[in-house]
Amino acid sequence: MDYMKRLENCVKQIRKITDFEPEVALVLGSGLGDYAKNIDVVAEVSYKLIKGFPVSTVAGHDGKFVFGTVGEKKIVAMKGRVHYYEGYKMEDVVLPMRVMKMLGAKKVILTNAAGGMDDDMNPGDFMMITDHISCFVPSPLIGPNLEKLGTRFPDMSQVYSLELQKKIEDAAEALQIPLKKGVYIQLTGPQYETPTEIQMMRKFGNACGMSTVVEAIAARHMGLEICGISLITNKAAGLSKVQLNHEEVKAAADKAAADFEKLVSALIKSM
Ligand code: HPA
Repeated sequence: MDYMKRLENCVKQIRKITDFEPEVALVLGSGLGDYAKNIDVVAEVSYKLIKGFPVSTVAGHDGKFVFGTVGEKKIVAMKGRVHYYEGYKMEDVVLPMRVMKMLGAKKVILTNAAGGMDDDMNPGDFMMITDHISCFVPSPLIGPNLEKLGTRFPDMSQVYSLELQKKIEDAAEALQIPLKKGVYIQLTGPQYETPTEIQMMRKFGNACGMSTVVEAIAARHMGLEICGISLITNKAAGLSKVQLNHEEVKAAADKAAADFEKLVSALIKSM
């Protein structure tokens, strides 16, 4: 099926279940897996019920859209995202983002778990994303341009909205949650980096991970207002004595979950 038709078909199937129109889209990374409990849920749509929708293969990333309100704000949360390293085409990886825009979203909050590359970045820190680098990750916009969604050569000089960045800073300050700022670099994964790769990347960025940038590119292409927060779950490779593993990353994410949820809720209410 033609890709644009496939997108429209996904939207049509969701519309059979709910007519809810979200204003804010929220992509839940590690540490926000249980965020749905903060939402007054109006409807849920499991990804596997949507024909043509990519379904994540990573354990613990069971996927669904959760529609509802946080305060007065109408949101759709993406519980479980699709990663490029799972083997999906890039057009599948960003399909959920495109669907959320077509359901009405005007703004998006991207969240993720990331390795900290600055000396002063430690597990449990939050980093507001000010810009990004795509490091050898194919662009999600390669291929025929989707004219209905955006322009062929979209500008990327201010991907992360200054207005939303201010709101993140205000929310963190009000909650007295320390907030770092920096550049997020996406690599494909799934392997963690070598110490030398980190030495190369830390010259230009502050945290690294395996998601988010391609979603931000697809969102920007469609003219969405974007902001992002990384939860630092570990010091990046070579910067501490411990070896990296997914369990450690998950444990650090769980530990920071309560603060992450508070920060995101305060942000949503202010948007
Ligand atoms: N590298 C890449 N992705 C990650 C890391 C990391 O150190 N931590 C969490 N996601």
